[in-house]
Amino acid sequence: MYKGKARAYTNIALIKYWGKKDAQLILPMNNSLSLTLDAFYTETSVTFSPEYTQDTFTLDNDKQDEKATAKVSRFLDLARKKAGISYYANVESQNFVPTAAGLASSASGLAALAKACNDALQLGLSDKELSQLARRGSGSACRSIFGGFVEWEKGYSDDTSFAQVIPSDAWENELAMIFILINDQKKDVSSRDGMQRTVETSSFYDAWLDAAATDLQTAKQAIAKKDFAALGEVTEANGLKMHATTLAATPPFTYWSPESLRAMNCVRTIRQAGLPCYFTMDAGPNVKVLCQKKDVPAILDKLKQEFSPEQLTSASAGKGAVSLEMEVSK
Ligand code: DP6
Repeated sequence: MYKGKARAYTNIALIKYWGKKDAQLILPMNNSLSLTLDAFYTETSVTFSPEYTQDTFTLDNDKQDEKATAKVSRFLDLARKKAGISYYANVESQNFVPTAAGLASSASGLAALAKACNDALQLGLSDKELSQLARRGSGSACRSIFGGFVEWEKGYSDDTSFAQVIPSDAWENELAMIFILINDQKKDVSSRDGMQRTVETSSFYDAWLDAAATDLQTAKQAIAKKDFAALGEVTEANGLKMHATTLAATPPFTYWSPESLRAMNCVRTIRQAGLPCYFTMDAGPNVKVLCQKKDVPAILDKLKQEFSPEQLTSASAGKGAVSLEMEVSK
């Protein structure tokens, strides 16, 4: 029996990953840049045993259906291949998120699973190799292997596509992200399906790729200069450009709900009143607000005039994935 357990924190992209050039290997069309956060994380344990007759996957104490288990199995196959074993596995994952507002993250989940497999099967992978492995589970997971500011280099092959830390002199510790949780009942388009539809059909997609390359350079310069306004502006602009591509897809779609728009306007109003803060959104209605740590209380005060306290959570910069326990008995 081989057992490993690991924790990984979620990350939010400031420059988004949006589109794959290879869906099998999960090679992205563009480089992306994220901030790993401390408030939301996943702990995953994996046990490989000759006694199991199939893979099983439990998430937040709920046994998952065939589709979710098959996705985990495909990932486990990669780890089994590296280890040269064929044992089935039991995977147990726990998401630590403040509310059930659709924040369960595939990034922290797959990064934790990659790290747990590395420990269980004693694969001895470096962080770079772990990032490559996590990427095969979910693209954004490759960034959650690392803490702080992280860039995912798109690469051109399995070996050349991985994330790494952007040196920042620990500037990320002065920053924060406030989550405005918006839980509408709309049916989701997953990020996987959404980005595929956009690459295949959106007439704005080429413009997105041009913009993403320029925005990435702007963001990296802002980090090098510790220029918060410049980083915030490019974060907000890049997120808006990503979301614009969905409107030009066939069929068109959007992740925005009326409440998302209300939150975005609220952030703009707070900014115009003199508190620097900038929004970004991913493949769902929640709005995330990048700000400086020193301004969090004042920004929260303003947001509380518009949203309930349960809808608001703030996070600081988080660490990379960590091992929790491992056990090998033969
Ligand atoms: C909008 O990493 O969830 O959050 O690689 O298909 O698993 P797959 O997609 P995923 O996509 C994340 C998209 C995003 C932007 C980002 O995190 O960069």
